[in-house]
Amino acid sequence: MRARRTGGDPVTAAPIFELDWRGGASAARLHRRRPGADALPWGTLDLAAIAPAEAIEARRIWSAGVFTEYASAAAFSALTTALLECGAPVDLAAMSGDIVVDELFHVELCARLTMELGGGVPIAFDLAAIAPLTSAGARPLLRAAEIAVATSCVSEALSVPAMARSHALATHPLVRAVLARLLADEGPHARLGDWFLAWAAPHLAPAERTQLAHLAADTIEAYAPLWQDAACGGCPIPRGLGGHDDVGRAALRATVERGIVLPLSRHGIVLDAGRVAALVAT
Ligand SMILES: [Fe+2]
Ligand SMILES: [Fe+2]
Repeated sequence: MRARRTGGDPVTAAPIFELDWRGGASAARLHRRRPGADALPWGTLDLAAIAPAEAIEARRIWSAGVFTEYASAAAFSALTTALLECGAPVDLAAMSGDIVVDELFHVELCARLTMELGGGVPIAFDLAAIAPLTSAGARPLLRAAEIAVATSCVSEALSVPAMARSHALATHPLVRAVLARLLADEGPHARLGDWFLAWAAPHLAPAERTQLAHLAADTIEAYAPLWQDAACGGCPIPRGLGGHDDVGRAALRATVERGIVLPLSRHGIVLDAGRVAALVAT
């Protein structure tokens, strides 16, 4: 993983998202906790067989993948702190902390794949803003619930079908192997929020549940382009990380109804049915 902080884009002076890697004992510790990375078929991508425009697009997609995995690590890190601050069950807090390590391992895998594709493309982002925002003045329980809903109940829930479709469409062994490894971890990431709400919901006021329902709908709306944008027939590996085709788009719509709206309703977090219907309309 090549990357160092260089002070940002020399033209715009905007901070650029870059990674660093220490190696040695800290990397060895990560790989003891998350083994298997070196068994993936690295070095098998034949760049000469990929059209230059497609390779650039693949680098862009996987660079964005590195960023979203990094942002997920920050989100679960913030969630872990919020869970500790509201006295959530210790095993839930431990699970959230462990997911941070999952996401950092995913950062490594996506970054290595990006390097094999020819290197990352610049992403303008100030890491000081990477942690999720919560409502000003929210008490610890609500702060944890906000991060759990946006990060786990919505974002991670949608990443499972999106990644599954990417995996189904991917043809290269290395891309398939990386996606399979990421996908294997995503299910528990999506369940943590539900388990937290089962504990927290009895302590949430009706107004707080309404606020969380609005947040969930807003978060779903932010992802709606994944299934609303035109299907991508000629996208390069891994054909983006979204709906890709009618099968993937249908899976994302079904997840909104069955994997997000229904589970949240069981905790008294009821989304506006008309708004949801409009968001998943074909
Ligand atoms: Fe991940
Ligand atoms: Fe995740």
